[in-house]
Amino acid sequence: MQLGPSAPTIVVGLLAAVAAACSDGGGSPESASQAFCRLPEAEVEARVDDLLSQMTLEEKVEQMAGTGALGSGGWLAPANERLGIPGFAMIDGPRGVSVLGGHATAFPVAMARGASWDPELERRVGEAIGAEARAKGASVLLAPTINLLRHPGWGRAQETYGEDTHHLSRFAVAFVEGAQQHVIASAKHFALNSIEDTRFTVNVTTDERTLREIYLPQFRAAVQEAHVGSVMSAYNRVDGAYCAENSHLLRDILKGDWGFRGFVESDWILGTRSTVASARSGLDIEMPSPSFYGAKLIAAVEAGEVPMDDIDEAARRVLRTKLCFELDSDPPVPDPAVVESADHTALALDAEREAIVLLANRNAALPLERSALGSLVVIGPLADSANIGDTGSSNVNPSYVVTPLAGIASHAGSAQVVFLEDDGSSAASQNALAAADAAVVVVGLTAADEGEGGVSGGDRHTLALSAEQEALIQRVADSSRRTIVVLEGGSAITVEPWIDRVDAVLMAWYPGQEGGNAIAEVLFGDVNPSGKLPFTVPHDESDLPEFVSDPARLDVTYGFLHGYRWIDAQGIEPRFPFGFGLSYTSFTVANLTLDGRTLAPGGVLGASVDVTNTGARSGDEIVQLYVGFEGSRVERPRRQLAAFARVHLEAGETRRVPLEIAARDIAYYDVAQAEFVLEPITYVVQVGESSRDLPLEARFRVR
Ligand code: GLC
Repeated sequence: MQLGPSAPTIVVGLLAAVAAACSDGGGSPESASQAFCRLPEAEVEARVDDLLSQMTLEEKVEQMAGTGALGSGGWLAPANERLGIPGFAMIDGPRGVSVLGGHATAFPVAMARGASWDPELERRVGEAIGAEARAKGASVLLAPTINLLRHPGWGRAQETYGEDTHHLSRFAVAFVEGAQQHVIASAKHFALNSIEDTRFTVNVTTDERTLREIYLPQFRAAVQEAHVGSVMSAYNRVDGAYCAENSHLLRDILKGDWGFRGFVESDWILGTRSTVASARSGLDIEMPSPSFYGAKLIAAVEAGEVPMDDIDEAARRVLRTKLCFELDSDPPVPDPAVVESADHTALALDAEREAIVLLANRNAALPLERSALGSLVVIGPLADSANIGDTGSSNVNPSYVVTPLAGIASHAGSAQVVFLEDDGSSAASQNALAAADAAVVVVGLTAADEGEGGVSGGDRHTLALSAEQEALIQRVADSSRRTIVVLEGGSAITVEPWIDRVDAVLMAWYPGQEGGNAIAEVLFGDVNPSGKLPFTVPHDESDLPEFVSDPARLDVTYGFLHGYRWIDAQGIEPRFPFGFGLSYTSFTVANLTLDGRTLAPGGVLGASVDVTNTGARSGDEIVQLYVGFEGSRVERPRRQLAAFARVHLEAGETRRVPLEIAARDIAYYDVAQAEFVLEPITYVVQVGESSRDLPLEARFRVR
């Protein structure tokens, strides 16, 4: 069934899906638990029953907190030698094994990997980080960070994958499935943790529909699709209750509706705020040590304030996860050969190659032709800097870092690379700039500008570059024939003051230890850039919802719309839209068709589109499918991402690309029914190359 832009509406039959709304439970608990456990779960439950029957109250409570000690594999939670119960060793983090574990492969930050729109690649990154964590003796990897990027000013934006729920969910699943080949992953920080400076005290309120439909689905996907073994509760409050004592989040939703089988560990130290409320609300392990649990929890049980059932449930979850992940029979064995292996550093290079986003390229300023280059200036405070991200808990210590300058110098061939260490204002620098065929300015953010509060820069209070860096760009543009800006950072950077003065702009992120090589390969055209923005870059921060990171304003409300959904509703043009990225070739999309199949609850509707590489060189395209709503009875975004696919095409090649719309992703959460409902309305399918470039349209109606 061929559909053109003004395609007729097709009616997609809907067998009872309208009546039987998409339940919030996803798959059946049995299927969920079976995939959770590497062993027959009935066998594990029987062993847990037997262990619990032998354990004293003290032994059960001991399993519910860390020891406070830091071992080679990370933060420890106790074993029980008497009963042969193994302990945990928990180590960060989202871009590689924590600096606390010594050297490890430093991958590009998660936001960079989000820009690849390549969940298969992310699965490989998760597997590699999980393997290195295990090789250091860890059994729990404190990653992925999957808090939605509500606003690009969030200090830890780099740790997550982007602003869109569907996109983020695909990455959450991929990372967890990869990492859990080797260790227990930990989806964090549950939930609504996307302000850094006030994270310990802020109270985030939102309505139930926004909570379920916008801010939680990626956690549900991690639980029900990837069967994540643990979830870390966040520091902040949600609707008045700290997350570690938030029964609605932990019991009603996570363990109840979603059927989560693993354990909840608190965030560190200030992540636990009480003894009784935490134990009654479903916090299973206090990390890193028993401040509120331990003796206080024993006393609370003995005083009748905490039922023994709550202790048994927590201890059961801890034991179930240890046994299901075979920590007793197959404990992690240190293996240094795995760490920073050639495969892993090559993967870090591949990840950055796919992450780099070409934001502007006037008159084909890029790629640089080595043979036509006499001299190339490299300048900027980050040119010769190992700028790989936050120095907080996600920090990684690779044994080497290839800086942009080193990468450019090693890939320049016959071109003469001139590195200017000043701000370009000296006479010598002015002469060098005037003489050069091109200048590469490497600027952006560092851990001083953004990152974990108290250690790194915390939240950003401007989305712009520093005044010094903006002045540097202007100065180089005034003096150079061709000005190329390479941005580093973990989130959106506004570009208005200088964007029209320069010839090309790359977003290179915190690029990992191989970043300089990938940046050089893109600059010289050895690699065709293919990344697309996983967030919106506004003309001005005032175009976005307010970002409140202020100790004087600890009550913050998250609304239904943010990012591209917000600017669509407000009718605001972005500087760079969600899903935007250029290439050294060009692509078109055509011939959108929808499968006429019925759309069952939890089912999918197939779509297909022709993608053609209309340029002169091969490249990867990321085709995106958005769904809009006609006649909905509830507030809806103008459009929301519902599917995407990355495809490699040779010059001139056309490929028919399949996409799938999951009923679950286009249902809305009906608070009264406490279920996701697939409305019997008309849905508008739009397909293209970014959220603002959607030339193809089709409609289907659910009866
Ligand atoms: C930190 C972070 C968390 C990390 C934990 C252990 O405070 O919030 O993401 O996993 O402590 O380092």
